[in-house]
Amino acid sequence: MNVPHWYKNAVFYEVYVRAFYDSSGDGHGDLRGLTQKLDYLQDLGVDCLWLMPTYPSPLKDDGYDIADYCGIHPSYGTLDDFKSLLDAAHARNIRIIMDLVLNHTSDQHPWFQAARADRNSPYRDYYVWSDTDDKYRGARIIFVDTEKSNWTWDPVAGQFFWHRFYSSQPDLNYDNPAVQEEILNVISFWLDMGVDGFRADAVPYLFEREGTNCENLPETHVLLKRLRQFIDENYPGRILLCEANQWPREVRPYFGNDDEFHMAFHFPLMPRIFMSIRRGDAEPIRWVLEQTPSIPNNTQWCTFLRNHDELTLEMVSEEDRQWMWNEYAPDPRMRLNLGIRRRLAPLLDNDRRRIELANSLLFTMPGSPIVYYGDEIGMGDNILLHDRNGVRTPMQWNIGFNAGFSNAGEIYAPVIDNSVFKLREVNVETQHGDPSSLLQTMQRMIAARKKHLTLGCGNLEWLDCGTRSVAAYSRAFRRERLVILNNLSDSQQSVNIKISGQTFTDVLKNKKFEAVNGQLQISLQPYEYLWLEG
Ligand code: GLC
Repeated sequence: MNVPHWYKNAVFYEVYVRAFYDSSGDGHGDLRGLTQKLDYLQDLGVDCLWLMPTYPSPLKDDGYDIADYCGIHPSYGTLDDFKSLLDAAHARNIRIIMDLVLNHTSDQHPWFQAARADRNSPYRDYYVWSDTDDKYRGARIIFVDTEKSNWTWDPVAGQFFWHRFYSSQPDLNYDNPAVQEEILNVISFWLDMGVDGFRADAVPYLFEREGTNCENLPETHVLLKRLRQFIDENYPGRILLCEANQWPREVRPYFGNDDEFHMAFHFPLMPRIFMSIRRGDAEPIRWVLEQTPSIPNNTQWCTFLRNHDELTLEMVSEEDRQWMWNEYAPDPRMRLNLGIRRRLAPLLDNDRRRIELANSLLFTMPGSPIVYYGDEIGMGDNILLHDRNGVRTPMQWNIGFNAGFSNAGEIYAPVIDNSVFKLREVNVETQHGDPSSLLQTMQRMIAARKKHLTLGCGNLEWLDCGTRSVAAYSRAFRRERLVILNNLSDSQQSVNIKISGQTFTDVLKNKKFEAVNGQLQISLQPYEYLWLEG
């Protein structure tokens, strides 16, 4: 079947290269290490990797503080290693998109160093300066736990500079056409090398205007459309994925008229999946999907359960945020900014049924799913580590030294091995050989997801099943229809659905169900999910 827009039916996988596999023995994962593990990713069935930043960087924000847009951090390897990774991935039909941090650079970037040193430098105007710290008061602070202002005094420059994130990350000034040109050059550099696209970081904040909250400004959309046009004209088939932690109605313009982003993360859906599972009530999910406008045919949402950041609660009400913190982050150390710094399995009390259920929702909701590395084996986290590092620990390959991640005496972060998250269970090798493991279940879900185009391209219709404890919906595309049932509660639920069709087959477990007189009656075990074809 011809599906030209590959990303609509793709399964994505987010890789933190430092955590994945250390080929050099220095205690840090690297590009060659990732290349050596591509067979694993191919076996898992993922179509596209999103790599967190691998650029030269002082790593004050784990690489989201870029010091050179056209290089590789020495601890990750070289540009040649990057090319080899791309070739090896493409040979396995795996695409790679990389992080493109548009909004800011590191303060160590030569542009900033030149800018601060000399008012007359052409680079001065690459950043946003002011003699006072009272402009753009309408802009909120994002890293509320660390930053008190979006302005920081630079004694060398003798002025304040503007930054939406850490004060080590000065914002670029996109009002300056030279900055726009620089970024187009960066885009060309990587796309010429063969990268399949970018996850564009923190895009709502590219421009500043007095009297606004400095988010989602029209100027931002004009610039992004320019980037898209440049890609369409020169690199058709490559994609742009938008990171805008905003309401669906605010994200909708980032798709434009299919002339801005190909994809955008669905931020508000994510916390509501956790709410629905905790409350045993489909309503939060249903509500947020109702708030979600339709998007152009060739565009796609990107859905996720977890990523490398805190589980953000910016897109829930104050009351729901408190509730989520109480339920999912009872220990204050689990909280960060407006979110929760925990991984998927710990969030769900390492309850296998709920972990699978959350993934069932992820894989069957509209959008293309992204899996965060390690969540496919149910890795734990470490709240004792600073900032978001607790969810960025080494990938666990086997029960050997350093979980098979590295043979260095000292590694960048400790492996997770405790009484709940036991390394002898939570590792790839052990789960690979066990058909009942989470890893193999994930593999089956990914395979089923890819086989059924309707999950990527189909519409969603909620089904009345008689109880809010079950999220019941159908997905349909061309001649295919799937009926999805997710029991969100910890008790058995009987559903009764009025439906056309006779025989329904669960595509994951091959169980059959018969409708009688146009009614499908099924009893679901606690947290049971079914993907029925028929
Ligand atoms: C994005 C990244 C986050 C980073 C921030 C600043 O939100 O996901 O990790 O800290 O941008 O670049």
